[in-house]
Amino acid sequence: MRLNLGRHTSALEFTSLVGTMTEVDLPAPHLSTPRLRLRPFEDSDAAALFRLHSNRRVMRYWDSSAWTEPGRADTFLARCREMAEAGTGTRLAVERSADGVFLGWCSLSRWNREYRSAALGYCYDDAVWGEGIATEAARALLEWGFTHLDLHRVQSEVDTRNPASARVLEKLGFQREGTLREDCVVDGEVSDSWVYGLLRREWTWTASLASR
Ligand SMILES: CC(C)(COP(=O)(O)OP(=O)(O)OC[C@H]1O[C@@H](n2cnc3c(N)ncnc32)[C@H](O)[C@@H]1OP(=O)(O)O)[C@@H](O)C(=O)NCCC(=O)NCCS
Repeated sequence: MRLNLGRHTSALEFTSLVGTMTEVDLPAPHLSTPRLRLRPFEDSDAAALFRLHSNRRVMRYWDSSAWTEPGRADTFLARCREMAEAGTGTRLAVERSADGVFLGWCSLSRWNREYRSAALGYCYDDAVWGEGIATEAARALLEWGFTHLDLHRVQSEVDTRNPASARVLEKLGFQREGTLREDCVVDGEVSDSWVYGLLRREWTWTASLASR
């Protein structure tokens, strides 16, 4: 997975989807977990977003280069609004509930109402890696997606050199389904992606185990 939608769709970041998708307003939800608040993005998040996406370590396995222009954050925020208006998905800012610090974001995009499918994406500040933040936030968003969007399947694509992200997906119950060979070229560097999928029945099973 990479920017808003996933590993293979960052070009869409700059392409309006309004008019090409079913127009269904999909307001971004407010969700909470023991340590986190997930909320709709606000214009005031632009500076923190730029810090996150201009960090080369964070962007190492992304499907596009680290940001160098602060205006990229405004484009990102506009795209969040567009996703909500076009009903193609939702991207949520993730902040620590204890102090409101912005940690990153997660998203369900490429929502297909007919197929009941969507794509999971996420990105976090390297200062909080390894604390279970990505998994905790994604779990809340997936629960919302399976419940409120009635999803049947969620997909995610991961650079095969990014074991932390693959591990997040596996902890959530995703299964690795295959490899997309040499499907990304960033700054001349070619990479492969793993495709991961999570089915509704697998999610229900995983969630039932977690609550025991
Ligand atoms: C990938 C990313 C989301 C993980 O976030 P996180 O909050 O650190 O994730 P979690 O702490 O919930 O889980 C990470 C897991 O990966 C494991 N891990 C970390 N580095 C690893 C490595 N090099 N090899 C194997 N496992 C690794 C951790 O031990 C942990 O597993 P555990 O709970 O079994 O110990 C975060 O590193 C990130 O935002 N990276 C930059 C953006 C990105 O790559 N997004 C995904 C695009 S596909």
